[in-house]
Amino acid sequence: MLDTIPNNVNLEEDPKLQRALLRWQPDFLSWWREMGPEGFQEDRVFLRTAVGLGAGDWAVYDYVKMPDYRWGIFLGHPRKKDTIYFGDHIGEKLWEQVPGEHRKELRRLIVTQGDTEPASVEQQRLLGKSAPSLLDLRNLFQVNVEEARHLWAMVYLLHRHFGKDGRDEAEEMLARRSGHPDHPRILQAFNKPQTDWLAFYCFTMFTDRDGKYQLCSLSESAFDPLARTTQFMLMEEAFHMSVGETGLQRVVRRTSELMREGKDPRSVGAIPLEIVQKYINEWATASYDLFGGEDSSNAATYFASGLKGRYNEIDDKRFGDHVALDAAYDLALVESGQVKHKEIPLRRAMNAVLLDDYVEDCQRGLARWNKVLEEAGLPERLTLPSTRFNRHVGAYAEAPTDPQGNPVDPAEHARKLKDWLPTAADKEYVRSCMIPVYEPGKVAGWVAPPTRGFGGKPLEFEYVLFH
Ligand SMILES: [Fe+2]
Ligand SMILES: [Fe+2]
Repeated sequence: MLDTIPNNVNLEEDPKLQRALLRWQPDFLSWWREMGPEGFQEDRVFLRTAVGLGAGDWAVYDYVKMPDYRWGIFLGHPRKKDTIYFGDHIGEKLWEQVPGEHRKELRRLIVTQGDTEPASVEQQRLLGKSAPSLLDLRNLFQVNVEEARHLWAMVYLLHRHFGKDGRDEAEEMLARRSGHPDHPRILQAFNKPQTDWLAFYCFTMFTDRDGKYQLCSLSESAFDPLARTTQFMLMEEAFHMSVGETGLQRVVRRTSELMREGKDPRSVGAIPLEIVQKYINEWATASYDLFGGEDSSNAATYFASGLKGRYNEIDDKRFGDHVALDAAYDLALVESGQVKHKEIPLRRAMNAVLLDDYVEDCQRGLARWNKVLEEAGLPERLTLPSTRFNRHVGAYAEAPTDPQGNPVDPAEHARKLKDWLPTAADKEYVRSCMIPVYEPGKVAGWVAPPTRGFGGKPLEFEYVLFH
């Protein structure tokens, strides 16, 4: 039974932990059967499976039935430094155990991160039924099994380091449900339905990318097991974001080809650029909310205690000052319909600092999509919404602005929202475009073909063998 949990964390040496995980495993599997991809559990899917940091590759590629996927527990490479390098504990030894005084915060961080992993599987569970190609279908399932492995990663930390509380939290991870009225997932973006593939591409572009930034900040943590666990997760996460970025690029390419030919995308069941822009607005802003308040005492505590660093805290030349006690952050606020600037202590602004780096990263994606429009000779451009637009968390939650972040009066805001965010009719239209295509090498009409296959296989490869 033990070899059913591949690991590089010496699970063999800890019988108590083994027993706890083996008790959790059947509950996980019934959750997967109930809430994992619906209708494809018996099919064989060409998947990447993480196997650890051995001499060879960190992953293997083969056909697997999803319930037989070998979800493992892996730590990344040892840290560059064995001492804490930011916050109030600089110079002290990294922690191998949870310090009593930071136990509550660490547990909260791990539970919040862990909860997002099964949530996204739940959000995406029906998408297989309308996949635009066999490769896309495979990519969806790759993302799903890896998110489930990330749940394993967080559950391992809870079981290993948090005793009874940790085991209870691990059970709760399988009990909450995305979008459930009484027992929802913790963070709001993970309760939003992903009912079509444009939403899926936006989610993997924007929401998985928030995941990247959260994981990166945890990979700087003074709590070494958390840092090394998240570091390994990031290797899988890179692919999820590429699914989103290239997916949106393919949508833009298809739409721009039609526009260049003078055709209305709607006339052939493709997606107009305005709708793509609205989806970007919706998912980018929901993802901004995941960073938390721009001015946050929690963020200050996490940084001070060495729990969460900035993006690339250890290496980035911008961060010469790893104490960040004397510096300030210039926060733009919207007050009585005007943008005003206020200096806040840098430690309190750590969420905003992380969000700034995230926005820059997203802009690179936008630039690539706009290149497609430019190359098609079209004047239209897509834009990333302002971090002030459509916010429900943080400094701008109560401030109505347009997508560029300019304050607008509430009545105008209410009137214009249908031009800025997808309406029910827009979503219905997008759903009507989602005609499944399962023939190897073929692609639906609303999206351009992918430019390359997966795992060294060609586009025409039979990525899913239906039973
Ligand atoms: Fe994940
Ligand atoms: Fe992901």
